[in-house]
This record gives sequence, C-alpha cells and structure tokens, in this order.
Amino acid sequence: MKQEIQPAKGRLGILLVGLGGAVSSTAVVGTLAVRKGLAKPIGSITQLATIRLGKRNENRFPKIKDVVPLADLNDLVFGGWDIFEDDVYAAAQHAEVLVQKDLDGVKEELQAIKPMKAAFDQNWVKRLHGTHVKQAATRWEMAEQIRQDIRDFKAANNCDRVVVIWAASTEIYIPLCDEHQSLAAFEKAMKENNTEKIAPSMCYAYAAIAEGAPYIMGAPNLCVDMPAMWEFAAQKNVPICGKDFKTGQTMLKTVLAPMLKTRMLGLDGWFSTNILGNRDGEVLDDPDSFKTKEVSKLSVIDTILQPELYPELYGSIYHKVRINYYPPRKDNKEGWDNIDLVGWMGYPMQLKVDFLCRDSILAAPLVLDLVLFADLAQRANMSGIQSWLSFYFKSPMHDFDHIPEHDLFIQYTKLKNTLRKMIGEETIDYLD
Ligand SMILES: NC(=O)c1ccc[n+]([C@@H]2O[C@H](COP(=O)([O-])OP(=O)(O)OC[C@H]3O[C@@H](n4cnc5c(N)ncnc54)[C@H](O)[C@@H]3O)[C@@H](O)[C@H]2O)c1
Repeated sequence: MKQEIQPAKGRLGILLVGLGGAVSSTAVVGTLAVRKGLAKPIGSITQLATIRLGKRNENRFPKIKDVVPLADLNDLVFGGWDIFEDDVYAAAQHAEVLVQKDLDGVKEELQAIKPMKAAFDQNWVKRLHGTHVKQAATRWEMAEQIRQDIRDFKAANNCDRVVVIWAASTEIYIPLCDEHQSLAAFEKAMKENNTEKIAPSMCYAYAAIAEGAPYIMGAPNLCVDMPAMWEFAAQKNVPICGKDFKTGQTMLKTVLAPMLKTRMLGLDGWFSTNILGNRDGEVLDDPDSFKTKEVSKLSVIDTILQPELYPELYGSIYHKVRINYYPPRKDNKEGWDNIDLVGWMGYPMQLKVDFLCRDSILAAPLVLDLVLFADLAQRANMSGIQSWLSFYFKSPMHDFDHIPEHDLFIQYTKLKNTLRKMIGEETIDYLD
C-alpha cells in the first residue's frame, strides 16, 4: 500500500541552529555549490544512493531521489541562528574547513545568509561567550521569540514548509528530570523560568514543534529526547529525530562491533581517543560538555554486543573514549581506536584503526539528508520519533518500549525498507 505523501511543492526553509558553525556552514556551502553544479554531493544518500526495487532478477536500481518525492535542492532556502553575527561566508572562512575557491563560487548567496539572534545561556556551554543573543525574561519567552523567528523567516522567504536542525554546540550533561516527563511539567518549568532544567536547545525544539516544523538533533544534548517532547510531537503531528550525528569514530564502531559479534569473536577492551582542534573540540574540552558526548559515544557497544546474552565474550569489556582539544589539527580530526579482541580458545589479538578524517566534511551530507528525509516524513504524516533515521545518529532516539538499533547496516536496511514502503514497493528480506 502506497502511503499518502503530500507533494514537495513550494520552498522548503532549512533553519540551522548554530548557522555559523563548522558543520552548518560546510553543509550550506556544499548544498549551494552542488545546485550550481560546482561540486558533487559525495556522502549524501538522498543525492547519490540507489535503491533496489522488486525481486533481485528484476534488475531495478533507481536513484532514491528519482523515486521518492524529496524536496528539490533548488527549492531549499537557508537561515538559522548563531551567537555570533557573521554571515555564512565569513563563518565558513572562520571555520577553515573549505578552501577559498569553494567559497567564492557561492559567495553572494552565502553573504546574504545572516543568523538571527540566538537563544543562549552560557551556563549550558561554558567555553563560549555569545554576542548575538536574545534577551528573554523566561524560557517560555525564549521559545516564544524563536517561534516568532520561524514565522517571520517563513513569511519573508515565502516558504511552504520549514525544518529546524540543531548543529550548534554541545550543551552540558543533564539527566532526564521530572520537568521533562510530561508536556505539562515541561511548560510549567518554562514559565517558572527553571534555567537549571530547561536548556536553550529545548526551547528551539519546543518552538519548532509548536510551529509544526520537524526538529532534528545533531548534538548529544537531551533536548528533544524526552517524554515531554514526544508527547508534544504526537500532539502537533510533527516528526522528530536525533541524537548526535554518527560520522567518524562511532560510524566505524557500529561497523566493526557487529563484525566481531557476527563471528562470535570476544572483546576485552576498546580504547578510542581523538584529537580535534576546532570550536567543537574547544567546547568539548569542558568536562560537563564532554560528559554529554561521552555518554553518547559509550552507549553504542553494549547495545550491539548484548553482554547479557554473551557474558563469556563481552561480559567485561573495558571501553574508554577520550576527546582531546588540539588546536593545530583544526577540523581535521584524528580518531584512533585500539581494539583488544579475543579468538579461538581465548587467544588475544589487536586491531588498530587510525581515521584521519574531516569532521564537518563527514557531517555536512548528513545535514542535507536529514532535512530532506524529515521533510518527507512530515509530508507522509509520520509524527514522533523517526527511528528509520537511526542510521544517521550515534544515540538513536527511542521511547521506553523500544531498544535502539546501532548496527549501521541494519539501520540502512531499515531506512531503505521504510522508503520502499512509503512509495508502495515491497520491502526486501533478502531471501530471494
Ligand atoms: N562534525 C561532526 O562530525 C559531528 C558529529 C556529531 C555531532 N556533532 C555536533 O554538531 C555540533 C556542531 O559541530 P561544529 O563542529 O559545527 O561546532 P562549531 O563549534 O563549529 O559550531 C557550533 C555553532 O553553534 C553556535 N551556537 C552555540 N550555542 C548556540 C545556541 N544556543 N544557539 C545558536 N547557536 C549556537 C556556535 O556559536 C557555533 O557557531 C556540535 O554539537 C558537535 O558536537 C558534530
């Protein structure tokens, strides 16, 4: 049965929280360059991947974008918020991810994209000192101002729909509290200006949902991952997803861990360390922000390896994750993994991975895919947590009745089968 999907007509506004950051600016520059034919959308599933339809012998492998009604890149309009005033051209220069030649091809468009004032509270991101921030008496007012921004942007840019995506700095760690358990408790805490429990990121999420805009959480903060937001998303019929883009080291982990498990190889320890010199690295140098990231990065292995089912293989793994701020490397992160594995009769082996990656180059195509898929979900009337988008996240959101899926290839199968179902094609179980 084909799902009813509203056509992607009109313009789609993409509002990035953290518009001037390395990930956002790289995503915007790349998308504008791709649509001018100046660059290739490498790393983007929506732009490049094919999807098998029908039985294996039918030989049908169209591109996803040719059979799934995604918004056209020409219909995208970018905007967003940042705590610094720089337009996207200046911000991208500052981020030093892309070379000047790549910025110059779309210079005028980039200069026209200026951030709106951010909803910010330095207690939540200690290493940053914002100069372009909203004044709000309460968290409720903060969210109201963001709602107004969304409405103004939509009207000014003649947008039919809007998607909001958080690619801003990682806030400090906070566990789930009573204030997050229901929409009523959450709204009460906002109105009482409980700044200890209500983060600025939560105000963005609340505002997006209130305005009927899908919300994507690219950092590991609690933000939209709480019963209050699930309730609100269901009430407003809005898709939400997160958390924490799965780009470098964790992407590798969610490929290597299933490999070891499939072959019933044991594991004694997994040590992951990173050196990173961009602003994200600087923010994560603060122990409270790092704690949020650490929880996200650590969650992966246990869920994949299921030590409760395989105590003899995975019962006592020493799993350690470090991120070290090292300015000379800028955005070019180096992620090392040392894996102490165990084979036949308990003989130890080691596997070393050294990934010399580029953080924002890996994250940018995820931003594009996620906004296009979240908009598709909205038009297909799919509200609440979009678990089919787990493929893109380190800590895939799930409610209390479900366990998350971390294995990259199971996630990919789930994503593609969801698309097949949406367009009325048979899902594939690989038995043919
Ligand atoms: N690059 C990756 O591979 C990757 C992977 C997973 C998650 N992330 C997360 O994505 C986020 C962005 O990463 P980045 O490298 O672009 O960092 P960045 O520091 O370059 O950019 C973050 C931007 O957010 C802005 N900001 C901070 N608080 C804000 C607020 N309350 N409202 C509006 N703007 C705000 C900052 O001024 C900055 O411009 C980080 O949280 C990072 O942890 C990145």
